[in-house]
Amino acid sequence: MTTPTNIPVLVTPTLERLGGYEDALERGWSPDPRRMGDAAYVAAELAALRRNRAGYLDRVLNHPAPAQGASPSAPVNHALWISDGAFAGKADLRYVPASGAVPDGMPGHVGYSVVPWKQGRGYATAALRALVELAGSKGLKELQILCNVENAVSRAVIEKVGGEVDFIGPHRSDRLEQMKVYYRVRV
Ligand SMILES: CC(C)(COP(=O)(O)OP(=O)(O)OC[C@H]1O[C@@H](n2cnc3c(N)ncnc32)[C@H](O)[C@@H]1OP(=O)(O)O)[C@@H](O)C(=O)NCCC(=O)NCCS
Repeated sequence: MTTPTNIPVLVTPTLERLGGYEDALERGWSPDPRRMGDAAYVAAELAALRRNRAGYLDRVLNHPAPAQGASPSAPVNHALWISDGAFAGKADLRYVPASGAVPDGMPGHVGYSVVPWKQGRGYATAALRALVELAGSKGLKELQILCNVENAVSRAVIEKVGGEVDFIGPHRSDRLEQMKVYYRVRV
């Protein structure tokens, strides 16, 4: 067992690390921020993981897109986990390498979630900073980051990394009435 360090880093999901993710699901954490508190969804994720661990990991790493695209115009997704020595959450960066654009249908360049029992320790802020750095290393100049208007904590996180409000509106990945703040973050 690894001792938590309290310094969060982004790590690549592996079978070895899947146990921490499994524990988080068992404690009710939802990997999809739109489905927080959805016990049926979390139970289905846990069952799928236990049915086929390698298959589940493959889905984590390759859906909605793999980290390495077939061509520069194919979308890529860097699916990463936040770790303080133990599983603490997830953080994704997705883009189209040729244009730097958000892949079609995706709610912004990034997604992140911290397990409830490790929230309020600066982990999401550190993870988002690391994603911005990763984006810079991939040649991206600007990120579009979306969050629900009422999600004050996530808004604070985005603003701490320099997010500026672009506009407010819905996104087709969510209910039409769910207003989102569209932030711009210079890389
Ligand atoms: C949003 C989320 C990722 C934040 O994770 P976290 O690790 O707790 O965030 P951090 O500790 O890095 O930062 C939280 C900041 O919000 C601030 N904050 C907390 N409650 C707040 C409130 N009600 N209003 C405004 N700011 C608030 C904190 O003070 C802190 O800022 P500070 O460090 O300047 O004090 C986490 O709550 C989460 O996983 N939520 C569910 C999934 C989700 O919403 N994902 C984001 C989708 S856009």
